[in-house]
Amino acid sequence: MKVKKSVFDLQPGDVFGEDVFEPVRLRVLLVPKGWKIGDWEECEELKVKLQEFNVQEVIVDVTEDKAPVPPIGEIRKKALSLFPIISEETRKRALDVVKRVTEAGELDLKEVDELVDDMVNEVIAKGEVMLSLYAISRYDDYTFVHSVNVSILTALFALEFSFSRDELKAVTKGAILHDLGKLRVPKEILNKPGPLAPEEFEGIKKHPIYGVDIAISAGEKSDSVISVISQHHEWFSGRGYPRGLGGERISLLARIVSVVDVFDALTTDRVYKPRMLSYEAISKMLHEGAIHFDPKVLSRFISRFGIYPVGSLVRLSDGKIGVVLKSNPLSPIRPIIKVLYDEYSSEVEDPYEIDLSSSELFIKDVLADLSKSFTP
Ligand SMILES: [Fe+2]
Repeated sequence: MKVKKSVFDLQPGDVFGEDVFEPVRLRVLLVPKGWKIGDWEECEELKVKLQEFNVQEVIVDVTEDKAPVPPIGEIRKKALSLFPIISEETRKRALDVVKRVTEAGELDLKEVDELVDDMVNEVIAKGEVMLSLYAISRYDDYTFVHSVNVSILTALFALEFSFSRDELKAVTKGAILHDLGKLRVPKEILNKPGPLAPEEFEGIKKHPIYGVDIAISAGEKSDSVISVISQHHEWFSGRGYPRGLGGERISLLARIVSVVDVFDALTTDRVYKPRMLSYEAISKMLHEGAIHFDPKVLSRFISRFGIYPVGSLVRLSDGKIGVVLKSNPLSPIRPIIKVLYDEYSSEVEDPYEIDLSSSELFIKDVLADLSKSFTP
């Protein structure tokens, strides 16, 4: 792969990828294409020579592994400006509500209803929002960040089904409250690194029942909301918990939240394991999902968010770097990309779109996700 390099940064071993001509009249060949710099002495002589002719940058050939990638933080900043994000106010309110419930054990259903109303309105109005929770997810407790993530993603996903507004609100509310019962599970067990002892796992398996109990005591009356809390760990095969319900005996709303819940859990850093990239999580869910998820709901999730969900930062087969702008429901591995950096890793002044479904280029690497915490 060819990259631009400042003359100051040349080093032994670099191979010139293109002829270097004297820049004014372009008649004198200074260094031929394919020239490999030997030792440091030769390198310094070349630098002096090139600077004498006022050459600032040259093209060098690097093996693909060495192709430099600009800092992920920079790519992310550039890419984030392309998307509407869920408003700071809604996100903070959601976190506050869940935090109050988790820390003080107070569940004010009126407050949750108002929040869910605003969330659903915002998601309907924007149609596509980035979660953009990376800034807080490093500092906050997993349980409530996860609940907020799941509820926003659920609201977005639920738009795909022809739900009434009331059903949209019920599934979003169920999603925000789905892990409520974990309040009654000791923190040491919830955050334990490594495998759980059988009796500890039995304790965790009760959280859907505890959750229903807390919600009903606080006055929750909707069967739809309750079904999400009580059934989000039931498996389509009937091998889930707490009741071992299977197939369509599990409410559709719970089947939806179960897909989003696992997707978010896999793509978030946990005490005991680092997160996966979105496309890794989706391939894992596809492989293991046959017994776990409703196949129709899972395939709808994938065609909605793509194998490479919107916001994935990717490198294309020719070295360009961009962000997934839109998924292609008919061709999940060929989304529409906004190119931010050219094949020399230089910033593109006017980012442009490539539809991979009508291009020979393909995604070679996923560098990061836009909406999650990361370590550069
Ligand atoms: Fe759960």
